[in-house]
Amino acid sequence: MNAAAHWPAEALWEAIAPLLPGFTVEVLPSIDSTSTELMRRARAGRMEPTLLIAEEQTAGRGRLGRQWLTGAYEGTGVVPALTFSLGLPLAPREWSGLSLAVGVSVAESLQPVLPAAGSGKPRILLKWPNDLWLDDGRKLGGILVETASFAATPGEPRYVVIGIGLNVLPVLAQDLSTPPACLREVDSSLNAASSLQRLALPLVQTLLGFAEHGFAPFQARFAQRDLLLGRGVTLSNGQHGTAHGVSEDGALLVHTAGGMQAVTSADISVRPTPA
Ligand code: BTN
Repeated sequence: MNAAAHWPAEALWEAIAPLLPGFTVEVLPSIDSTSTELMRRARAGRMEPTLLIAEEQTAGRGRLGRQWLTGAYEGTGVVPALTFSLGLPLAPREWSGLSLAVGVSVAESLQPVLPAAGSGKPRILLKWPNDLWLDDGRKLGGILVETASFAATPGEPRYVVIGIGLNVLPVLAQDLSTPPACLREVDSSLNAASSLQRLALPLVQTLLGFAEHGFAPFQARFAQRDLLLGRGVTLSNGQHGTAHGVSEDGALLVHTAGGMQAVTSADISVRPTPA
């Protein structure tokens, strides 16, 4: 069915299990959504660390209730996108900035050296709070962070599900609000399996580092890839301003007519104002 994807499930398990006791890796040919599935399992009391990869999602979800669509898979033999979720119990002192730290980790794994601006090479940047974009304004992928609040006891770890979707091959969808980019434009040798191989272990290390130290150690690394820095932005609450980077707790700083605002709300989306 899928000759092209040789998922590195065993190698990933060997690398990650020492860091996450009880860790399992699972590859599914098709599911509604890897994040929905891990949340279902958590609701049923299954909260062991799990990396769940799907070759196809039938009801992929994005932030703010949006759909996450990937290119057609059936019949092509090649997985067009990397879609997976990592679920694990985590007890950071502060949760703010988690999706930004994940973005830093994924971007750096996929493009360890950021080409200089103006070099003509595609640069993987981060669009606050959870998107990976190329610097020409096209979206490469997104991150959806969800915590299982039904399992929350104060002071105890919460089960968090980090869902990541990355376009690997060109996406044909015409009706996306942001034009899509794909990993093959960044590195023609990448496929879904090799992308996962590159980013899964650093992602786990990032999550454990975040639990210990919070977002602050990631702040400068985010700044290096901050797509919005210095740009005009429009917030979904109608405000306009100029983005001034992110604070130590991951809030987006926007200078508006009313002064500097720290945008933290997960319900607010931000778009670069068209030039
Ligand atoms: C966004 O751009 O708003 C976030 C997109 C997250 C998509 C991934 S694909 C794997 C996981 N399963 C889902 O249903 N969503 C996330």
